[in-house]
Amino acid sequence: MENEASSEQPIGVFDSGVGGLTVLKAIRERLPDEHLVYLGDTARLPYGTKSPASVLRYAMQATAHLRSRGVKMLVIACNTASAVALDDLQRALAPLPVIGVVEPGARAAIAARPAARHLVLATEATVRLGAYGKAIRRLDPQASVRELACELMVAQAEEGWTSGDIATAIVREYLRPMITGSGAYQPESLILGCTHFPILGDAIRSVVSPQVSITDSAGTTAAVVASELLARGLNRTPAEPARLQLLATDGATRFARVGGTFLGEQLAAGDIELVDL
Ligand code: DGL
Repeated sequence: MENEASSEQPIGVFDSGVGGLTVLKAIRERLPDEHLVYLGDTARLPYGTKSPASVLRYAMQATAHLRSRGVKMLVIACNTASAVALDDLQRALAPLPVIGVVEPGARAAIAARPAARHLVLATEATVRLGAYGKAIRRLDPQASVRELACELMVAQAEEGWTSGDIATAIVREYLRPMITGSGAYQPESLILGCTHFPILGDAIRSVVSPQVSITDSAGTTAAVVASELLARGLNRTPAEPARLQLLATDGATRFARVGGTFLGEQLAAGDIELVDL
């Protein structure tokens, strides 16, 4: 099946939860004619606190499920899974194209601020692997990079607490050592190195100076998806409207409530298909 990709097949998008919907939204805006199937592994979220072996196993199972749905391309819309498992997934699923979000995120940040002091906000697992640091230093040797694990912000985003006093206080607490006091790192660029974090953009913006650029990987990942489709001649020519399928491994009601905010449209529990990996 994997050797016979056709333009009518959907693009598979995967994350541990609803965070990857920020990437799905960007892909949908860029490629409105593409069928999309999204899988959030909500039963096993968060990935960011798990060992690399567990994240790899989960990512293999999730992507195998999406492949069984006949996808023509896979987007790992999770920085943690991209940092831990992208190489293994690309090898295991070849010739299916598999696109991660770390490299596109690094490119977006460098384009916004070359040779800058970057601060990456990410999960524990992404920070432990130094994935962004490696990607940025490879692309821009003049840049400086620090990475900060902000695990509670994943829960905050999944809870839908995206603005207000509590949201701002959590973000401020994480960022304080980096922005307050003499000798603080004082980043010129914040990289949202977790796909859950763009939804917290207002809270993040409110605690840093307006001069600090804030970037995430959604737009640049969508651009990579678009150019890969073009290169492989896999763009869909619409005869009928594009379909969006939403799959989760647990909690359809919660997924619909919070996912709707991420996607910017109303979702009902009935819109979410529960799957077992
Ligand atoms: N959305 C995932 C990421 O981009 C992480 C959330 C989690 O910890 O599961 O890293």
